[in-house]
Amino acid sequence: MISKKVQDALNNQINAELYSAYLYYSMQAYFEELNLTGFANWMGIQVQEELAHTAKFTKFINERGGRVIPKAIECPPIEWESPAAAFEATYAHEQAVSASINNLVDIAIAENDHASKIFLDWFVSEQVEEEASVNAVVQKMKLMKDSPHGLFMIDRELAQRVFTPPADQTT
Ligand code: FEO
Repeated sequence: MISKKVQDALNNQINAELYSAYLYYSMQAYFEELNLTGFANWMGIQVQEELAHTAKFTKFINERGGRVIPKAIECPPIEWESPAAAFEATYAHEQAVSASINNLVDIAIAENDHASKIFLDWFVSEQVEEEASVNAVVQKMKLMKDSPHGLFMIDRELAQRVFTPPADQTT
């Protein structure tokens, strides 16, 4: 059984993960409109990753005898100044998600909830990867500046990204 405090915090994180999926869904649409299909593909994979994160939290709450309680999901932005600005917003968002996961770990420790702490360790590592993969694109965008050729090259590279479900994903 999980404490109400941990259950509430995990439910808030489910909301944050679903918001992340919705944000990247909106960015995917933004890139589709610009005909940057590689960028759109990258964002589409990001949507799937966020839904996989949501599924992990859901499964864990259920396994611990807790209750998933849906809440309204905020509407994300729909426009960005440039593709680079969208990726900078993505990087800032992932850093905020990392802070949120760290806060969850603090709550689990304060509640002496070892099972939640161990469960959350996966997300701590996942956020290191998430930040690194977004930052890699941010840095490439900085290097290419306003070069259309550079944008085309990055678009072609991002088209290669495929979704790899987490090893224990059962949903
Ligand atoms: Fe679920 Fe992008 O962190």
